[in-house]
Amino acid sequence: MDKKSRRIEQQVVGMQTSDGAGVRLTRVLTGKLQRRLDPFLMLDAFGTDVADDYIAGFPDHPHRGFETVTYMLAGRMRHRDSAGNEGLLSNGGLQWMTAGRGVIHSEMPEQIEGRMEGFQLWVNLPAKNKMIEPWYRDFESAEIPEYQADNGVRVRVIAGTSHGVEGAVVREVTEPLYLDVHMPEGASFEEELPLTHNAFIYVYEGAVKVNGTSVAAGRMGILSNDADSVRIVAARDARLILVAGRPLHEPIVQYGPFVMNTQDEIHQAIDDYRTGRLA
Ligand code: CO
Repeated sequence: MDKKSRRIEQQVVGMQTSDGAGVRLTRVLTGKLQRRLDPFLMLDAFGTDVADDYIAGFPDHPHRGFETVTYMLAGRMRHRDSAGNEGLLSNGGLQWMTAGRGVIHSEMPEQIEGRMEGFQLWVNLPAKNKMIEPWYRDFESAEIPEYQADNGVRVRVIAGTSHGVEGAVVREVTEPLYLDVHMPEGASFEEELPLTHNAFIYVYEGAVKVNGTSVAAGRMGILSNDADSVRIVAARDARLILVAGRPLHEPIVQYGPFVMNTQDEIHQAIDDYRTGRLA
């Protein structure tokens, strides 16, 4: 008998918005889902062939209290930050930045035409780690561990461990799992997910079914917490990300790019930024 799979509890169509100096993007995980999808705070999806949608980029801006994970499917983006890090993020590459007590950085396109596509995920830090020293690493596409199953499913392991393959980044406390899954039509993919871990998929190409529910491209499917694995079937050739993590169950107070546990800590972050003590 088949093992029970998590279900699609809710489907989310992202909200069209713009951020930075005017970059068009789809905010898939918004503030009202921060509790349900704890420890994840935000997911932005961007995908466009129109240079005007991305050319303005994200000039210098601060972060404190969480981690930003940028996964680039197509395009080139240059990162510079106050800790002296600089890197070029391109096709299939990953940038993981732990803002901790504070980083000021810019993320600017290094192309004036062509496709720009990818995701930025925000992962919360536990209260005890919000003020740690910043940490940063770039991974080129070839540095991201991946495996291919017999049925043709290809899995890129960005974070956590999948089927014995350890990802580019492994984190204690929130234990994030972040997979980019490429599936030929008709193939299925199963992943163990601890019951307590909140999880979702976001389909960016094709369509899949989870426990009989179809999820089309451009949709997020929040997975129910009533089974310790999920089984995904490709209704057509499909690509999706699967994201899961252990919830923190701590207060979340967000003011733009600062995510802390109390209002006082937010005031402190704003004050530190204004007075040049953030980073
Ligand atoms: Co940023």
